[in-house]
Amino acid sequence: MIQLIKGFKDVLPGEIEVWQTIERAAKETFENFGFQEIRLPIVEKSELFSRSIGDTTDIVEKEMYTFEDGKRGHITLRPEATASVVRSYIQHKMYAADPIRKFYTIGPMFRRERPQKGRYRQFYQIDAEVFGIDSPYLDAQLIFMLTTLLATLKAKDVKAHINSLGCPCCRPKFQKALKELLDAKKEHLCENCLRRSEKNPLRVLDCKVPACREAVVGAPSILDHLCDECSDHFETVKRVLTENGVEYEVDKNLVRGLDYYTRTAFEILTTSLGAQNAVAGGGRYDGLVKALGGPEVPAIGFAIGFDRLAEIVAMQQSIEAPGPTLYIAPLGEKATETAAHWVMQLAARGISCETDFSGRSLKSHMKRADKLKAAHVLMVGDDELKTGRVTLRNMTTREQDELPLDGLVETLAQQFK
Ligand code: HAM
Repeated sequence: MIQLIKGFKDVLPGEIEVWQTIERAAKETFENFGFQEIRLPIVEKSELFSRSIGDTTDIVEKEMYTFEDGKRGHITLRPEATASVVRSYIQHKMYAADPIRKFYTIGPMFRRERPQKGRYRQFYQIDAEVFGIDSPYLDAQLIFMLTTLLATLKAKDVKAHINSLGCPCCRPKFQKALKELLDAKKEHLCENCLRRSEKNPLRVLDCKVPACREAVVGAPSILDHLCDECSDHFETVKRVLTENGVEYEVDKNLVRGLDYYTRTAFEILTTSLGAQNAVAGGGRYDGLVKALGGPEVPAIGFAIGFDRLAEIVAMQQSIEAPGPTLYIAPLGEKATETAAHWVMQLAARGISCETDFSGRSLKSHMKRADKLKAAHVLMVGDDELKTGRVTLRNMTTREQDELPLDGLVETLAQQFK
């Protein structure tokens, strides 16, 4: 038997109801905040990701699914959505009429990571991006929107962690100070961090290897190296979050695994998922639109790990799909054909409706109606077709009504609308 590939998964009925609930809540929340949906391809030119996420990141160095595509060169299954949203914003000159645009997009991403609980090779993100606003009020508003969505979904044990990563004006000075410390602690660093300390020293702060964690304990804080503008920006973000009741923790070692960030960076961490504790991550990326060939437009966004959020929501509440409004239980050949006709008529009018063509007994129909959690059962046999009356049972109250066959579809459509 052919099985699915490790790191990939099926989301089946029983689980999908949680996903649908999350998706509906995200769309509603984001649209209330002025976001529009955008749908983008899952394959892009590889260069889009290497130029935006950064050549020395884990994602670009070792996690992308990249293929050769004849004359088109190398193409990659998207490991994230931000780069594609920026590409689309630039390509369609969406900044022309008004640079301020707010988008959200939901879909699969692909990273060739080592699969484990909460970490998949195909995973889903709910992604939100805003272009054209550099105000710190927006940073706070986005984090507020994210925590509002999590509260709506009753996600427990989640907390916002925030940091500022500075800007091209102040970050290099911090990187230099950090690199000096790392050079002095070279013998304690893991192989990965030795490499990172040369090319991308900030990433060492994020390493999970205990020896590396210890090595950076006394590391300088980026927050002490921010320029006045970045510092004011961060202070305002924190103040507005507090004023609006968002609980957060400042985490000076929060650096994110993608290189495009400037200033505010944030993650939503949870204590209920084990090692893969990031439910969402994001931040400002004021230089990316320009770096990818667009105008100088500031931007900020985040992505929620859909799979991880679904796990958290499923822990808190069970969400079941509702059963059909009506189950038609036909007895006899003529009644079965009539039931088939009624189901088509009723379902087409928006009444969720089920039947069975296999000639079951009434008892067996009732069992199936129960299993499907049908709200009502309509019992019809060949005899009832002759007498012109059918029986409708309310499965909750067990009350029964007799309905005339004449105009039955109309009667039911009215009753269940
Ligand atoms: P990211 O932190 O790489 O950021 O991913 C965001 C979220 O996606 C993570 O917090 C996690 O919940 C989920 N995630 C990432 N990798 C996996 C995986 N292998 N399996 C399951 N879930 C995963 C970004 O992708 C940025 N594009 C976010 C952003 C948007 N920044 C600005 N705008």
